[in-house]
Amino acid sequence: MVSVHDKQISRRDVALGLMATLTCLALPRRATSQPSAPTGPDVRVLRASQGTVRLRGSDQSATPIWGYDGLVPGPALRVRQGAQLAIRLVNDLPEPTVIHWHGVRLPNAMDGVPHLTQAPVEPGETFDYRFTVPDAGTYWYHSHLYSSEQLERGLYGPLIVDERVLVDVDHDVVLVLDDWRLADDGTIHERSFRSFHDAAHAGRHGRLLTANSQSPLPVQVRSNERLRLRFINAANARIFPIRIADHAAWVMAIDGQPAEPFLARDSRFTLSPGSRIDLFVDATGEPGSTASIFAENETGDEVPIVSLRYEPDKPARSSRRPEPKPLPANPLPAKIDLKSAYRLDVPLEGGAMSHLMREHRREGAQIQGHGIDPAARLWTMAGFASSGHHGPPLFSVKRGRAVVLAFKNSTAFPHAMHLHGHHFRLLDGLDDGWKPFWLDTVLINAQETVRIAFVADNPGKWMIHCHMLEHQETGMAAWFEVA
Ligand code: C2O
Ligand code: CU
Repeated sequence: MVSVHDKQISRRDVALGLMATLTCLALPRRATSQPSAPTGPDVRVLRASQGTVRLRGSDQSATPIWGYDGLVPGPALRVRQGAQLAIRLVNDLPEPTVIHWHGVRLPNAMDGVPHLTQAPVEPGETFDYRFTVPDAGTYWYHSHLYSSEQLERGLYGPLIVDERVLVDVDHDVVLVLDDWRLADDGTIHERSFRSFHDAAHAGRHGRLLTANSQSPLPVQVRSNERLRLRFINAANARIFPIRIADHAAWVMAIDGQPAEPFLARDSRFTLSPGSRIDLFVDATGEPGSTASIFAENETGDEVPIVSLRYEPDKPARSSRRPEPKPLPANPLPAKIDLKSAYRLDVPLEGGAMSHLMREHRREGAQIQGHGIDPAARLWTMAGFASSGHHGPPLFSVKRGRAVVLAFKNSTAFPHAMHLHGHHFRLLDGLDDGWKPFWLDTVLINAQETVRIAFVADNPGKWMIHCHMLEHQETGMAAWFEVA
């Protein structure tokens, strides 16, 4: 979930011009197309494969990663609203994988959830994803198998769905955020995969913060241009507090769905894992100047992740653009019938300092070497610890029914609850209204209760889980059925 926060954080003046590297914005290359079966001209092959990326700058050794077409982030897939997306996943990895299309309200069979909607795609095998995209906006795709390892290794990329009418901006910039825990030699710290401590606390965090695998990412702008910045949080578990220095920021869309435009207070916002935010930022700086986009790290310091660099030449136009109009609406349900809604309380429990964990410690069986047993159950949703596909559904409703879920977080940690196949509203205290935006992922702070409402209008078996991937894999996952 995105929230605009006004917390005062420590500031640090960083001499950005000096620190910034001179590497270019990494543009995705086209796949080297060697499909294992004939593909139509419209089929895009995505190879899940090994690659390398220079995360620590061009003068440091590269980091081996797993990525789509060997890149991280994977290629930006772009499609027009209402058009069909046809992707052939080719698995060149040494283990099975799948692709999930986060936030896309697609047919269930294309949702990419292993064992629930499809079989894992074995090494050397392929799987064809084919669906039309109903909503314009900023989405992303990522593995949904061994997620805490496969996403950490880099198996994610942006999916941009263009509005049917042209949205008038000068620059459309996709910013995929991640954090990396690296060993001293620059390789991904694999020994701490499946760390018991990470799983029982706030999940895996890494010290190196990147945008599109660079730190900071240089973005060239000209004075008086309008930028559309599309932020995607692809980190396993990090909640990113972001601040855009010296510029006003209009919030245009959240989790892909248009919102009534509003200015982010102090140009700050928070992005939890899985969430997206689209901003319009007018380049009001002087030619030749630079400005940073900062992320706040654990110690409260601001780290520049993007460097806006103004061209020295004359402005793109003589004056800045007028206030933005809302993005065109997507075909979401016009109303939600709360009166006849199916209602369910979903307590979130477990983790470090909980009763459940004390039991685990006593049994001791879940701790193996440096890691956790895949069957470790450290967290529960509505009393059950699940992988999200085994066992009975959390609930089952007829198609078209309104659903109200009350997440009650009684743990000591925040959780980012994500619903597949649907977008939802955040309810106000009573059933007397909801926030004026749609979400597919909502951050629920420790000891907080959050209620959401949605229309279960997409038939199938859908996961609902914490997007802190180490939590998801140790019990905080379930599925629901729309029949
Ligand atoms: Cu972004 Cu179930 O995932
Ligand atoms: Cu969680």
